Amino acid sequence: ESSEIGQLKNLYKTAADVYHYMLTTAEIGEQALDYLHQRGLTDDLIEEFGLGFAPSQDFLKTYFETHGIGDYQLFRKSGLFTEHGDGSLVDRFHSRVMFPIRNASGQTIAFSGRLLTKDDKSPKYLNSPETLLFEKSKVLFNFDKAKSVIRRDGEVYLFEGFMDVLAAYRSGVKNGIASMGTSLTDDQIYQVEQITKKVLVCYDGDQPGQAATKRALDLFEDSSKIECEVVNLPEKLDPDEYVRKHGTESFKKIVHDDRETVLEFYMRYFKEGKNLGTESGQLAYITDVLGETAKVSDSLQIQLTLGRLAKEFGIDKMSLESQLRVLKQQLG
Ligand code: GTP
Ligand code: MN
Ligand code: MN
Ligand code: MN
Ligand code: MN
Repeated sequence: ESSEIGQLKNLYKTAADVYHYMLTTAEIGEQALDYLHQRGLTDDLIEEFGLGFAPSQDFLKTYFETHGIGDYQLFRKSGLFTEHGDGSLVDRFHSRVMFPIRNASGQTIAFSGRLLTKDDKSPKYLNSPETLLFEKSKVLFNFDKAKSVIRRDGEVYLFEGFMDVLAAYRSGVKNGIASMGTSLTDDQIYQVEQITKKVLVCYDGDQPGQAATKRALDLFEDSSKIECEVVNLPEKLDPDEYVRKHGTESFKKIVHDDRETVLEFYMRYFKEGKNLGTESGQLAYITDVLGETAKVSDSLQIQLTLGRLAKEFGIDKMSLESQLRVLKQQLG
């Protein structure tokens, strides 16, 4: 390990520690702490995930300087500051709740900071830029802690957001991870594939979340042997909202018991935005579902899907099967 990487890791460790102190102990962090408590986080959870608070614009820089930690060049490379035209540095994160992003060994290599109140000027979540330590496309939030549970349970939950991972965690669902607010990369899929063959996609119940679910299923299907199922949360809720509204026990039950197969997901997903009262709407829907069915190899799942389509639209199963054969030939 080069000494520069070691120095950056030290800097990040110190930053995580002081941000954590500001949140949990200093008076200036009181509002942020209240905010997290209001969102249902306990002190234990705040501790476990090392959450913090970044107060003012010159806080971290002043802290490092008065404690003789680091130097200008290291600060520049750290991504913890933004550089002005005259070369001066100011804290990148301020007035934000800080989520340490840890590598698979549990070392902090980046942050994501959330505004206490969303405004129109700055993004809700602000991430560290890419550095020597941090390649966004390679990191999965909570992978360090979740790994052993994923191996034990033989499956992993994929969530959209950090708060969703935390909500699941306090429900006792500790095998949850999230990408960095972007769609999954091959590298992330590869890491998951090394420890499990089963992914439960549990994205937000809103439209963007459902569209992202389809993208995730496509990626897993194209580039891995992983088997996916989908957890569809009702009322367009995300996991964090669901836990706050219906409680941890209900969440735990729904993610265990209400899983859809990939084809069940598509049978629901493709209804969105189509008028099934018309024949052209029905044809478009059936064609979409059969298109996905053609990619599935599990013959029981295929038979269940064809049976449901046949029943719902009063078509005989034989014609669905012959149409499916045509689609399969087109796929090659
Ligand atoms: P909360 O409002 O805190 O509950 O966040 P959320 O996780 O519900 O956010 P949302 O569903 O809107 O987005 C999911 C994930 O996308 C977040 O956890 C972030 O990782 C990412 N994200 C959301 N907003 C932003 C943003 O403004 N900038 C960036 N870079 N990422 C974002
Ligand atoms: Mn502490
Ligand atoms: Mn969302
Ligand atoms: Mn969300
Ligand atoms: Mn949310």
